[in-house]
Amino acid sequence: MKETISVLIPEKEIDKRLNEMVETISSDFKGKTITIIGVLKGSVMLMVDIAKKLKQPVEFDFIDISSYGEGLTSSGNIKINKDIENSIEGKYVLLVEDIIDSGRTLNYLLNYLKSKKPASLKVCTLLDKPERRVFDISVNYIGFEIPDEFVVGYGLDYAQKYRNLPYIGTLEIEE
Ligand code: PRP
Repeated sequence: MKETISVLIPEKEIDKRLNEMVETISSDFKGKTITIIGVLKGSVMLMVDIAKKLKQPVEFDFIDISSYGEGLTSSGNIKINKDIENSIEGKYVLLVEDIIDSGRTLNYLLNYLKSKKPASLKVCTLLDKPERRVFDISVNYIGFEIPDEFVVGYGLDYAQKYRNLPYIGTLEIEE
């Protein structure tokens, strides 16, 4: 099997877009400590790069969930593998994702995290595939809208590979 990756979003373009996003995030969270929650594992690159560009105080936490099957229920098929470690009550939370596809993960996480009473809860994603959306959710900061293609790199994997690529690429697999 041959796997071919073509660059979709180059590293420099990601960096440029992150500068714009961080400017908006900084002004929205002005004077606040930002509690960044990364959704493992795909969001790690974005989380780190955003955090390095932010000038205000930042706290990190992580959550890892698995979803099973393609059912449309928001919570029935979802399991928390690793929960956040610190209380977010009264905190200004920025949830970071690498990609939003059906929106099932985010729909579940927003309901779950809201129940923990943060002062505010905003969402940032590098990639959005609006064509694939099933759940009606709103996202505050979106890096790039992309078509429904299989993408890897900058946190995104194919069978756990390619997460370390510094760019976003489309993956083609030939038998
Ligand atoms: C991916 C991605 C989102 C979710 C998006 O995670 O990081 O969390 O899927 O899909 P959805 O909008 O349809 O819910 P994945 O389960 O592949 O885990 P990973 O980040 O560890 O690769």
